[in-house]
Amino acid sequence: MKKEKLKKLYNKITELTKEPYITGVGNVDAEILLVGEAPGAKEIELGKPFVGQAGKILDGFLDILEIQREDLFITNVVKTRPFRINEKTGKKNNRPPTQNEIDAFFNILYEEINIICPKIIIPLGNTPLRCIMNDNTLTIGNAHGKLSKKDNFLIFPLYHPAATIHNQNLKGTYLVDLDKLKRVISSI
Ligand code: URA
Repeated sequence: MKKEKLKKLYNKITELTKEPYITGVGNVDAEILLVGEAPGAKEIELGKPFVGQAGKILDGFLDILEIQREDLFITNVVKTRPFRINEKTGKKNNRPPTQNEIDAFFNILYEEINIICPKIIIPLGNTPLRCIMNDNTLTIGNAHGKLSKKDNFLIFPLYHPAATIHNQNLKGTYLVDLDKLKRVISSI
C-alpha cells in the first residue's frame, strides 16, 4: 500500500523536472526517516541517496547508532542534483539548492513524510530542517541535537554528515548528538 502510494507520488516528479532525479529509498515501514538536502553526482549515477562521500560518513554514524540502512527510510528535500558548470573544467560542480528548487519539491517531501509516517524524522542540515519545520529562520547550529515535535512526528536534527569534512571540530559535537539520539531511539 505504502509502496504504491510512493510510486504514484514519485511519478509526479516527472511533471516537475526534466533533470535526472532520485527518490527516497529504504524500509517504507521504518520508524526513522532521514532527510538530506539533495543528491550529488554519485547519488544520481547510482539512483540512491547518500552513496557518495557524505554517504560513507553517514554509514559511520549509523554504525555508532547500531542501525542498518534496511531499518531506515532515507530521502532528500530536492530530488535532482543542483549543479553549476565549472567554467575552467566544463564539468558539473555541486551547489546548494535555490529556494525555488526547494519550494518545487516541498509538497513531494510533505506527502512522502505522511506516507512513510515515521515516529522520528532526522533532518540532516539546514535545508531539511527548515523545510520540515516550515520555518526558514531556524539554523542547524541552534537546533542540532535537540528533540522537538512537528505535527505528530518527533524531530531530531543533526548536522549534515558532509559538514564534518570541512569542520573537524564538529566531530565531537556529532558524537554527543548521536549518543543522545541513540537514547531517544531506544525510548520510542
Ligand atoms: N548529500 C545529501 O544531502 N543527500 C544525498 O543524497 C547525498 C549527499
